[in-house]
Amino acid sequence: TTYNVGFLVGSISSTSINRRLSKALVKLAPQADLNLTEIPIAGLPFYSADHDAAIPAEAADFKRQIEASDAIIVITPEYNRSVPGVLKNALDTASRPWGQNSFAGKPSAVIGTSIGAIGTAVAQQHLRSILSFLASPELAQPEAYLHMTEGLITEDGEVTNESTAEFLLSWLKALHTHTAKTLSPVV
Ligand code: FNR
Repeated sequence: TTYNVGFLVGSISSTSINRRLSKALVKLAPQADLNLTEIPIAGLPFYSADHDAAIPAEAADFKRQIEASDAIIVITPEYNRSVPGVLKNALDTASRPWGQNSFAGKPSAVIGTSIGAIGTAVAQQHLRSILSFLASPELAQPEAYLHMTEGLITEDGEVTNESTAEFLLSWLKALHTHTAKTLSPVV
C-alpha cells in the first residue's frame, strides 16, 4: 500500500536546513512506498481561543489537510532547546477546537536537523511530548537526529553521503510499517 503522508516543516527561514531535509525525504519516499506532501504552516494566524467559535479559513484548511493524511511527519529545527514558535502555533491550531483535535489517532514521526552536534534531540523530546498529549501514535524507533554538515544535503535535496541516505530511507520504511500497523491493527 502507498500511504499519503503530510509533512510540516518547522522553519519559515528562506535558507532552512530542515526544508532541505524535507526535500531529501520527498525524493526518497517513493522507495518506501510513501507519497509526501507538505502541509504549509507559514500562513497560519496565531492561535487564539477566540478561534474556537469562529475558526479562520486557513486554520480549517490546515486541519483538513492533516485529517486527510494517512500519517504526518514533523520536521523540526531546534530553537533554544525546544521547537520553534511557528511550529508550536501550528500544533496548537491543529489541536483545537476542543474535541476536534486533528492529530487524534493519526500516526506521526518526528525528525530534524541542526548545525549543532546533538541534531535537534532536545527539541524532538519536547515535540514527542506534545504529540503524545495530542494522542498521536508516534514512531518510536529509529530516532532521527541529523547533524547537518556542509554539503550533506544539497539545495535541491540530494543526499551526498551514502550512509545518511540509507539511514533516511530505513527511517521512511519504518514509518511505512508504523502507519500500516496503526491504521490496520490486528485485533
Ligand atoms: C538556533 N540554533 C540551535 N541549534 C541547536 O542545535 N540547538 C538550539 O537550541 C538552537 N537554538 C537556536 C535558537 C534560535 C533562535 C536560532 C535562530 C537558532 C541553530 C539552528 O540549529 C540553526 O539556525 C538551523 O539552521 C535552524 O534550522 P532551519 O531554520 O535552518 O531549518
